[in-house]
Amino acid sequence: MKVQNNVSVYSGVTCEDDVFLGPSCVFTNIKNPRSAVSRRGKYERTIVRKGATIGANATVGCGIEIGKYAFICAGAVVTKSVPAYARMMGVPARQTGWMSRCGRKLVFDEKGEAVCDESGLKYVLKEGTVYEVEQ
Ligand SMILES: CC(C)(COP(=O)(O)OP(=O)(O)OC[C@H]1O[C@@H](n2cnc3c(N)ncnc32)[C@H](O)[C@@H]1OP(=O)(O)O)[C@@H](O)C(=O)NCCC(=O)NCCS
Repeated sequence: MKVQNNVSVYSGVTCEDDVFLGPSCVFTNIKNPRSAVSRRGKYERTIVRKGATIGANATVGCGIEIGKYAFICAGAVVTKSVPAYARMMGVPARQTGWMSRCGRKLVFDEKGEAVCDESGLKYVLKEGTVYEVEQ
C-alpha cells in the first residue's frame, strides 16, 4: 500500500492490500456531522478493495465500497459505491470508463473484451462487471 502526504483516514475505513492513496485525499466517516452532537461509535464503514487508487485531493463519502482496482481520479467526490476496475471522475464522481490493474484505460470491443496495453492481460465486461481472464 502507498499513502502519500496529507491523507486523512478515519475510524471505519478499511484499505486492502496495494491500495494507493494520493496526496491530500480525504475519507469521511459521518454523513451529517454536528459539533454539538456526539456520534462517536456511529461511524459508517468504508472499504477500499485491493489495488484501488484514490487520486490526489479526492474525497470519499462514507458507507461506500470502492471495488478492486477501481480508479478515482484527482479531485473527484465519490458519493456511491464504485464497481471493480471503474474509472470515476468529477463532482459528484461519474464513471468515465474502466482501468486495468496497471492503471491503463481498458477499451472493450463489441465482444466485451479488452487487453491492457501495458501488461497484455485480458479482461471481459459482462453485464456491467469486469473480470480478468486467466491465461
Ligand atoms: C484521469 C487521469 C487518469 C487522466 O487521464 P487522461 O487519460 O490523461 O485523461 P483523459 O484524456 O481521459 O481526459 C479526458 C477528459 O477528462 C478531463 N480530466 C482529466 N482528468 C480529470 C480529473 N481528474 N477531473 C476532471 N476532469 C479530468 C480532461 O481534461 C479531458 O477533458 P476534455 O475532453 O474536455 O479535454 C488523471 O487525470 C487522474 O486523475 N489521475 C490521478 C493522478 C493522481 O491523483 N496522482 C496521485 C499521485 S501524484
